[in-house]
Amino acid sequence: TMLTPNMHYSELKDSYLFNTIYRKTAEYQSSHPDKKIYRMGVGDVSRPLCDAVIKALHTAVDDQATMEHFHGYMPESGAPELRKAISEYYRRFSVSVSADEVFVSSGACDDLGDVLELFDKDNTVLVIEPAYPEYVDTNILCGRKVIHLDSGEENGFLPLPSEEIQADIIYICSPNNPTGAAYDREKLRKWVDYANRNGAVILYDAAYEVFIEDPDIPHSIFEIPGAKTCAIEICSLSKTAGFTGTRLGYTVVPKALERMGMKLNTMWARNRETRTNGISYILQKGASAVFTKEGLEQIQKNIRVYKENARVLMDAFERIGIWYCGGRNSPYVWLKCPDDMGGWEFFDYLLNEIQVVGIPGEGFGACGKGYFRFSAFGDPEDTKEAANRLCKLLGR
Ligand code: MLT
Repeated sequence: TMLTPNMHYSELKDSYLFNTIYRKTAEYQSSHPDKKIYRMGVGDVSRPLCDAVIKALHTAVDDQATMEHFHGYMPESGAPELRKAISEYYRRFSVSVSADEVFVSSGACDDLGDVLELFDKDNTVLVIEPAYPEYVDTNILCGRKVIHLDSGEENGFLPLPSEEIQADIIYICSPNNPTGAAYDREKLRKWVDYANRNGAVILYDAAYEVFIEDPDIPHSIFEIPGAKTCAIEICSLSKTAGFTGTRLGYTVVPKALERMGMKLNTMWARNRETRTNGISYILQKGASAVFTKEGLEQIQKNIRVYKENARVLMDAFERIGIWYCGGRNSPYVWLKCPDDMGGWEFFDYLLNEIQVVGIPGEGFGACGKGYFRFSAFGDPEDTKEAANRLCKLLGR
């Protein structure tokens, strides 16, 4: 017999969206070495970790140098103190989750893919588009049927369920990447009710929770009654505390979540025991510092900078008179490309004319065509300059 590789790889697009953006930007830079590029494409943070985290990381490194404080393997599901600190963080949203419902991860991106091991491959997945491309790619790779629910300006990029939808696994990202739109409690409740009625499970991506400012927007799906019997929440310190290069996230799997007599919390604990040797002691110490009083205050400093960047971009689009959403409870601003341009056409136009990089909406699914995403995670001066250039170029 011949080994058969996973043929589903051939069903993926040639290149992952964010790599295409990096490659196109690098190509432009190498043919225009004298031009400064304003990078507002891939949502990577630009500001350093806060003091509390840096101190904790240093101390943890020193611990590893001593007999007394050295740590070997960590528990696969996370250090008990960190799991407890995260469960206490949820109290701010009046949500009660216990420490053993919290699983420490190497980041939301990793768990969004790994968590699919809880489900049969014959389940159908619903992806609300435009969407973070990983939701689709990871499911294609395990041969799962993916159906799409389009969103658009008509529903504020926040579509609601209807009984015609037949899905077992539903991805919801709120505040949304890429559109920045965020479900309020009433709308999110419709999805929770749908999932409970139909036995579906919601994979709730809350990576941008910390950017929420409006009181009617929930920070956690567990703020919605009934969510504990139908949802898994996946979070990350990447955007909350600048951990994109440090790597740490967490996933909440409620004990009340059961399907066909199987408890997903027990399954996930078992999965972790098999699939990982846990997250490094050093990183978990750093992450624990985020959840201290001091850490939670300090991380707000960078969040305020990113929020101000978002405001600068929103002001520019107001001035130009371009339709946009997001930016308010989100670090992403999502706009309509001017003059009926396609997203990739607009991408080339901005790069060539004003050296500003964003991401074409079509990269996040077909219904994103003609839209464009800017990230507010860049340098404040660069963001201001990019906004000025956009206003000048778009001539208004
Ligand atoms: C993005 O640009 O959408 C982010 O970088 C996604 C991510 O965090 O992986």
